[in-house]
Amino acid sequence: MRLLFIGDIVGQPGRRAVTELVPGLRERHRLDLVVANGENSAGGSGITVGTAGEIFSGGVDVITSGDHLWDQKEVTQLLDQEPRFVRPMNYPPGVPGQGSTLFKAEGLPAVAILNLQGRTFLPPMDDPFRTALGEVERLRRTTQIIFVDFHAEATSEKIALARMLDGQVSAVVGTHTHVQTADEQIFPGGTAFLSDAGFTGPHESVLGREIESVIQRFCTNTPQKFGVARGRILLQGALVNIDEKTGRAQAIARISEPVI
Ligand SMILES: [Fe+2]
Ligand SMILES: [Fe+2]
Repeated sequence: MRLLFIGDIVGQPGRRAVTELVPGLRERHRLDLVVANGENSAGGSGITVGTAGEIFSGGVDVITSGDHLWDQKEVTQLLDQEPRFVRPMNYPPGVPGQGSTLFKAEGLPAVAILNLQGRTFLPPMDDPFRTALGEVERLRRTTQIIFVDFHAEATSEKIALARMLDGQVSAVVGTHTHVQTADEQIFPGGTAFLSDAGFTGPHESVLGREIESVIQRFCTNTPQKFGVARGRILLQGALVNIDEKTGRAQAIARISEPVI
């Protein structure tokens, strides 16, 4: 089966990239499933019912998130009611929402999507490693096809978690840095890996935000309004081919597609 994972969708330009490019990508690559990180889809910060709806309408099946989860109050509606929306699983017990979900389509085995958040250079969270081990064991009673979005800053933490899960999940792809890495590979146990998928939105920017305000912030240490930039919109992510019978990855490829 063929899966496309889309890196952090930033603001209106990012949503536009999804709407304009995903239908064509679905067809060209004969995709069975599209997963996208939507944590920056609302004006660059957080996600709303409306922006999630736009992303789903564009052809995305499941939306993941990360540290910007709580930036829009409306997210509670998604956490409470949307079965196709996941948040990092390693919050304490009792926090609204789900850390994993099962995608089911006709003629395909169930696919589990698991979202985790790193702890290095990010706010405190429960242990993503221990959380991953427990949840993957539970999910494997249902399916061997498991996709993990590990939302984390440090490449070492991402590689370590993916190496720990090698042979237990189909793919681990990182998000959060908004910078696509060139280390796509398949580990010996059959787990596909990419440290970071990059971001979907305006690349004439600093990670999707207007260049000048970010420079001002660094130069003056004063708060600035970080508007979403406009120029050179790219959809970035990774294509993963997975053996339906074993759950092992057969191929992983980075993509970076321009909106023309
Ligand atoms: Fe992000
Ligand atoms: Fe993030």
